[in-house]
Amino acid sequence: MPRYLTPARICSLVLIRQYQSGHTSSESSLRVLDFLATHVTASPENDVEAVSERNKFSSSDISFLAEKLSPWSSKVTGRSMYDILLKGLWALNGLDALHNLINRLNSDGVPFDEEGNPIPSKQITPGAPLGQFIRRCYVEFTRLQFADSQALWNSFLAYRAPTYEDWATKNPDAAKELQETQSLTNVPTLPGRSSADISSEVNSSSSVVDADMLLGFSIYQLQKLGTRVPGDVKAQLGKWIGDQWDSGTQSLHFFMEFFDHWRSGQYNVALESLHRYFDYSLAARTGTDNMRVYYQYALLHLSVLHADFECWDESVDAMNECIATARENQDTACLNFALSWLLYLRHAHPDKSRSSFATISGAVGSGGGEHDEIAFLKQKARDGKHWVLMSNTLLEEAKLEMFSGGSAKRAQEYILQAMYLNVLHDLQNLAPAAALFHGASHDRLGQAQLATRSYELATVVHDVHCSLNDRVRSTCRLALASALSGHYTKAMEMLNGLNPTIRGVLKLEQRIQAFATIVQLRRQLNRGDLEAASYYLNQLRPLRSFSDPEIVFEVNLLEIEFFIKQGSFEEALTKVSERIRESKGRGTDIAQRLHLLVLKSRIYVAGGQAVKGFAVALRATSTAERHLLIPVLHDGLAVLARILIDLAEYATARDLIEATLPQVLESKNVTLTAKMFVTMGEACVGFAGYCCDAGSAEHTRSMRRALELIERGRIAYQRTEDISGMLDCLLMKSKIANWGGDETTAAQADEMYMQLLADR
Ligand SMILES: *[C@@H]1O[C@H](CO)[C@@H](O)[C@H](O)[C@H]1NC(C)=O
Ligand SMILES: *[C@@H]1O[C@H](CO)[C@@H](O)[C@H](O)[C@H]1NC(C)=O
Repeated sequence: MPRYLTPARICSLVLIRQYQSGHTSSESSLRVLDFLATHVTASPENDVEAVSERNKFSSSDISFLAEKLSPWSSKVTGRSMYDILLKGLWALNGLDALHNLINRLNSDGVPFDEEGNPIPSKQITPGAPLGQFIRRCYVEFTRLQFADSQALWNSFLAYRAPTYEDWATKNPDAAKELQETQSLTNVPTLPGRSSADISSEVNSSSSVVDADMLLGFSIYQLQKLGTRVPGDVKAQLGKWIGDQWDSGTQSLHFFMEFFDHWRSGQYNVALESLHRYFDYSLAARTGTDNMRVYYQYALLHLSVLHADFECWDESVDAMNECIATARENQDTACLNFALSWLLYLRHAHPDKSRSSFATISGAVGSGGGEHDEIAFLKQKARDGKHWVLMSNTLLEEAKLEMFSGGSAKRAQEYILQAMYLNVLHDLQNLAPAAALFHGASHDRLGQAQLATRSYELATVVHDVHCSLNDRVRSTCRLALASALSGHYTKAMEMLNGLNPTIRGVLKLEQRIQAFATIVQLRRQLNRGDLEAASYYLNQLRPLRSFSDPEIVFEVNLLEIEFFIKQGSFEEALTKVSERIRESKGRGTDIAQRLHLLVLKSRIYVAGGQAVKGFAVALRATSTAERHLLIPVLHDGLAVLARILIDLAEYATARDLIEATLPQVLESKNVTLTAKMFVTMGEACVGFAGYCCDAGSAEHTRSMRRALELIERGRIAYQRTEDISGMLDCLLMKSKIANWGGDETTAAQADEMYMQLLADR
């Protein structure tokens, strides 16, 4: 592979020469200059389109140039810039001509037009981008070994060969002359040679610089978006790099492979690629100082890799080592990143023993808690103006505040601060994560609509900067919300729609699969199809050992729901007590614990021991209210109302639900809505039966109200496909209607009941 000079670059030189000598027409002049400027600068690009255009430009095919230049007119009427370029290309009749061209470009200060008049406006100063490009080409050209310059010439011939027809039809005289010289000297400058010849020269059509650029871009994308390298890019790079063992490109290639294998879930190969990357980097750059710098970053990557493959202890060990090295080298950026990573690890996996995380407190210099560590990191970030760290730490702080039962308002404030920082310092990559956090905090406040908007924000507004991981997360949350309001098919469509975009990133595939199974399991549980439910549950159970806490909690809940549906209350009670015990460890989310407590009281209610659950439900509900955990509060209130009915406190139960219902409707939890309607209907019936005089107006009113409420409950159950709920509602309806002497309604309800039973 050549270092720098390629046929495409020779084309650039020719084009520069033609631009200089005023071959461009006045309107195309700027466009040509713009085109040259984009393709001669060697700055690293992180924009997909720019990179793909450069890729096309440096490919072994001239068609990109043809397509670009053909529409631009030249000074000669009827000839496009492409024709002019071809004329210039075919005027190069040997290495000597190429040599002349480069020399002339490099030494000519002021160019001359065809009549020999100087054109000062087209002068290229050595400091300008074009001037630098020419200088670089000149230096590279003079440094070429003889064999290399021969190879360059051959690849140039192969590159321009396909344009012979285009050129010869427009320049018949020159073509004839060329034919004649060729027959005299027998120099193979014309097409007609075997295609094998040409293909072997295609190898040198791209240079180390191009490969480096493509590699750099791929790595940037891998890191930013967490995707995998597309197959064609990988093949192209493999072809370019071939067996260039000596260049620095090789080590970058391994770095790319490291990410790629990591994403595809190949732990061993990823580890090996990482080792190789650092080995080759060291070999390419000798010097002990460099080695120490590389060492800490190697450890950093190693730790992240371990963590991704659930090797927590190894990950923490590597990170501790990294921290030690970074401190020794006084690399604060690395040190702070490592500390914040450790903090994140601890939050993500709170049940790990404290000892392995001792370094954070060690660095902070106090035996203090997490608040001290966060304050320390914030201070460091502020001192070093390290805004990425600051933004991340704020989110971490918000999470801590939410999980440990702090103030929900303060958590919101931290999230908003982080979002503000992202906008202020243009940290676009962090915006999707902050939007997800914001959504989660809305969810906890029972604002389902706002939460949905926040999740959508991540993929709609921040689409270009949204990493694959955040994209999957936001879609999974949206799908779960859809399933909650009974739109199972839509939820499944959302999840399935993700599959093409993730291109075999193993972890994300597993995540999507898990969520799809969760949605199916919910649906079957609601329908009361226990056989199917147990099938899905069995698929989910093994996931608990390696999934993230969000999925684990969901699976635990569904398992308990399954037992309740099955009627095995004892088993459900054992499970729930077990989970409550587990959640007492440090660092678990307080919302989850309260949720489990409410669930426990619900099991008592379902098992006919409502009174036993009263104290638990009351305590959990009031705690949820204090911490503004609205979904748990609603759930708890529903259970409390049930218990009150069992205690014959009908009026209280009715009033309680009447006060809660509007907010529950807002939270979009259709199951809960249905339950609340039905419970309120029952409370009305009870109220009519026990607190009113038989035959009084209030009695009749209360019964009519009950009928309406139960019908609304039935409609809600229908949305979640909850068949047993619907049957219960119809039965109640029929009874109430019979009691009131409304025979048509009763007959309707009975008919629907039979129909439903038959369809089942
Ligand atoms: C070009 O690359 C192919 C493999 O892609 C290789 O077999 C061939 O030898 C190379 N040709 C030259 C001239 O280097
Ligand atoms: C929705 O309501 C059901 C029934 O009360 C409850 O079990 C479930 O946890 C609620 N879901 C959410 C996300 O609040």
